[in-house]
Amino acid sequence: MVHALRPLLAGNWKMNGLGAAVNEARKVAEALGADAPPADVMICPPSTLIARLADTAKGSPLQVGAQDCHTAVAGAHTGDVSAEMLKDAGATAVILGHSERRADHGETSALVRAKVEAAARAGLMAIVCVGETAGERAAGLTLTVVGRQLTQSLPDKLGEAGVVIAYEPVWAIGTGLVASPDDIVAVHADMRRALVARYGAAGAAMRLLYGGSVKPDNASTLLKLPEVNGALVGGASLKSGDFLGILAAYR
Ligand code: PGA
Repeated sequence: MVHALRPLLAGNWKMNGLGAAVNEARKVAEALGADAPPADVMICPPSTLIARLADTAKGSPLQVGAQDCHTAVAGAHTGDVSAEMLKDAGATAVILGHSERRADHGETSALVRAKVEAAARAGLMAIVCVGETAGERAAGLTLTVVGRQLTQSLPDKLGEAGVVIAYEPVWAIGTGLVASPDDIVAVHADMRRALVARYGAAGAAMRLLYGGSVKPDNASTLLKLPEVNGALVGGASLKSGDFLGILAAYR
């Protein structure tokens, strides 16, 4: 079951990237175009670059995703962007419930769930992030917290564009710290059990990514763990060489 899932390597550029960053995406697109990639590869740039990256990726296997969306289709929501607008700009997926949004914008799992429904409505794949803080981990609450976020962030009915889960321990994001293989395996196995119990075959087919300081030098260890179906990569996705170095773990 596990190894039948095609892996997904998704780069999360966060609030990084001016026009010149399109060159990094171009290098990734060119590298993928030359050779059938062993995984789905996606870059999620800031909204300002989605259309330009989509244009750059045209004709290559590189996919373009977004980092957040509003729940509504359109309307009086100054500064927000709808799932339909992201799709219109060329995105095929959207990251939702990243811990930085949960922390910076007070996003609750209930809001994330509404955003997952918005993504489904627009035909975007949702990459839903869950993960415990250092304090929660120290208190032995990792599985409880992740399980609760997973349950509450997902709607009962999934859209056709699909859902991917990214397990990202908050303390491992941007810190150079990585969860131990045993801990990742335990969390992913627990998530898989919960997803299969709730969604049946669709839960078995959902890709489970690990995120948090994934780099070229630890990728082959992390990406080969059972029930790890890819990675969500922050810092190391900003440079095409590093990002492609992580993809090399699948070759
Ligand atoms: P990182 O970020 O790879 O820089 O730790 C991962 C993420 O936040 O998605």
